[in-house]
Amino acid sequence: MYLTKEDNEMLDGKFGAGTAFAMRLLTKLGQATEAERMITPSSSHIVSFGYQFYGFIAESCKILDGEMLDGVAKFKIPATTNPKYFNIDDKKLVHRFGIDDGTIEKLRASMTDKQFESLGAMPIYTCTPFFVYPTRKGESLAGAESVAIVMYNSIYGTRLNRETTPTAMAAAITGRTPEFGMHKPENRYARLQVNLEKDLKPETFSSADYSALGYFVGRIAGDRNVVFDDIPTDISIAQLKNLLAPLGVSGAVMLAHIVGVTPEAPTLEAALLGKSPEERITVGKKELEEVYRLLTSATEDKADLAAFGCPHAPLEEIIQIAKQLEGRKIRDDAFLLIATSEPIKLVADRMGVTELVEKSGGLIVTDMCPHIFLWKQKDPDEVTDIGRGINVVATDCTKCAHYLGAQGRKVKYGSTTECIDAVLR
Ligand code: F3S
Repeated sequence: MYLTKEDNEMLDGKFGAGTAFAMRLLTKLGQATEAERMITPSSSHIVSFGYQFYGFIAESCKILDGEMLDGVAKFKIPATTNPKYFNIDDKKLVHRFGIDDGTIEKLRASMTDKQFESLGAMPIYTCTPFFVYPTRKGESLAGAESVAIVMYNSIYGTRLNRETTPTAMAAAITGRTPEFGMHKPENRYARLQVNLEKDLKPETFSSADYSALGYFVGRIAGDRNVVFDDIPTDISIAQLKNLLAPLGVSGAVMLAHIVGVTPEAPTLEAALLGKSPEERITVGKKELEEVYRLLTSATEDKADLAAFGCPHAPLEEIIQIAKQLEGRKIRDDAFLLIATSEPIKLVADRMGVTELVEKSGGLIVTDMCPHIFLWKQKDPDEVTDIGRGINVVATDCTKCAHYLGAQGRKVKYGSTTECIDAVLR
């Protein structure tokens, strides 16, 4: 692989041990992927929930990040940040969950946010960085978070590979990333073509229906690029997020063309780069029902938590939920959380939407997932059980349902309306 003079100087330790470590990691990645050179990504998206909750992976990241940060004072390129484990600075949330000061301090000590901020990372803490940190077609990024990857590639035409926390960190430290995969135009054509059965009407789809469609397709696609041929071109950005996010959960899709929407797919032929697809599938009602069945493990009518905003909700989605909550009350023993980013919540505050949600007993939360705090933790003696008493979770998002199901939680997968109904008085 060709390395510039500065790449070699980084590798040789001229800029410190951490930078040399980071460059070694990226060089190995480049060699493994047969990249011919390094490029300069315009930013890197870093996943940093806080370490002790992720077992073996967390330990590896801790070691890698520790060594990689040796002698590093600042990131070399802009770095955006994924949600944290829990927003301990949200007083209403902390109060609603009855979290004591000792627990808050334990959580604070476990988090990496301040460390990343001191290196210059942008404290946006969202899995939908594209809503607050816009990019353009043809720009290259580095980073992790499957939602950001598939959305940046598919909706913005921005180029990004499916990476890991250590490689995203290494890119932020060195300002370099190997040029392979999605960075190269010749790898961006679709290999799996998806059509919808005639009786399936996407214009009537709920968020959960779109999410179920993405989830079903992801299972078949694996890591192949996809093209959706029958999605209405006036689909909203919220529904695009709901459709695309699950492709990186049930599969490892990085790019899904939507004909007439994706910048590189004005036509089906353009998405396929003039080739024939390797495979064509047609999705119907039966396939979507299969996803609903697969992701629903709860038999109870009621849920303890209704979790929305996985991935983080844009304003449109928050307003729709708030309207449904108007004049209704959530049970005292249940929670309703809508997760989003801080800038979007600020607008919701100004529009009186937050007040509507809070009047019903729900909360709009920022900087965090609406469900990761329910994931199993590495050492139950060291950490806290914030989600005690939450046994059944209702959600309209397949990513949330998938991960909670994998954690052994009971899940009700359904439409936004059904999820709200499950926590009402
Ligand atoms: Fe975002 Fe957490 Fe879901 S990071 S995509 S809200 S799992």
